[in-house]
Amino acid sequence: MSASKNGREPLYVVRSSRIHGRGVFALRYIRKGTRILEYTGERIDNDEADRRYDDTKMKRHHTFLFTLDKDTVIDGAANTGGGDASFINHSCDPNCEAVITGKKIFIHALRGIEPGVELAYDYQYERTGKNDAELEKFYICKCGAENCRGSIMKPAKMARRPSRRRPEKGRFAGR
Ligand SMILES: C[S@@+](CC[C@H](N)C(=O)[O-])C[C@H]1O[C@@H](n2cnc3c(N)ncnc32)[C@H](O)[C@@H]1O
Ligand SMILES: [Zn+2]
Repeated sequence: MSASKNGREPLYVVRSSRIHGRGVFALRYIRKGTRILEYTGERIDNDEADRRYDDTKMKRHHTFLFTLDKDTVIDGAANTGGGDASFINHSCDPNCEAVITGKKIFIHALRGIEPGVELAYDYQYERTGKNDAELEKFYICKCGAENCRGSIMKPAKMARRPSRRRPEKGRFAGR
């Protein structure tokens, strides 16, 4: 899977990743600030997201949810219209960021990205304030960055930014 807007070699490709499953890799040099692709999928509400993804019923945590606003979540799974952006993994030292513009989510390059480098952004799973230590262990990070914080969870002190949505009914969600 790859994409090309102008007939040139595609900007990226989806292939196996050392971080997790499949990931998205640059095929050409991507300049800082480039809007690389949109995070597409089905728009659902929070209740439907909870019905679809429940960590207590999954062998292993794995979701395609991205919070668009307080009422809307995008499910980027392939069977709900998800695209290549759904395969972008998390990194604690990201080279991309998610930007919400006009009710759409786009992945932008935070810095220049060389061909062959995996694209990644910081998922920043929301904290509950109740059981964060357990959540940090459950959502273990395998990004391999030197400054890996060991968890996909948002650091304790970080400004609010677009964030991936972890399953509300997770094992440690405190309900
Ligand atoms: C939308 S998928 C990303 C694509 C995924 N690699 C695949 O092949 O489907 C998101 C899931 O990938 C896994 N993941 C992504 N980044 C990770 C990381 N840095 N460490 C551990 N798991 C990660 C988690 O299971 C997360 O729920
Ligand atoms: Zn990490």
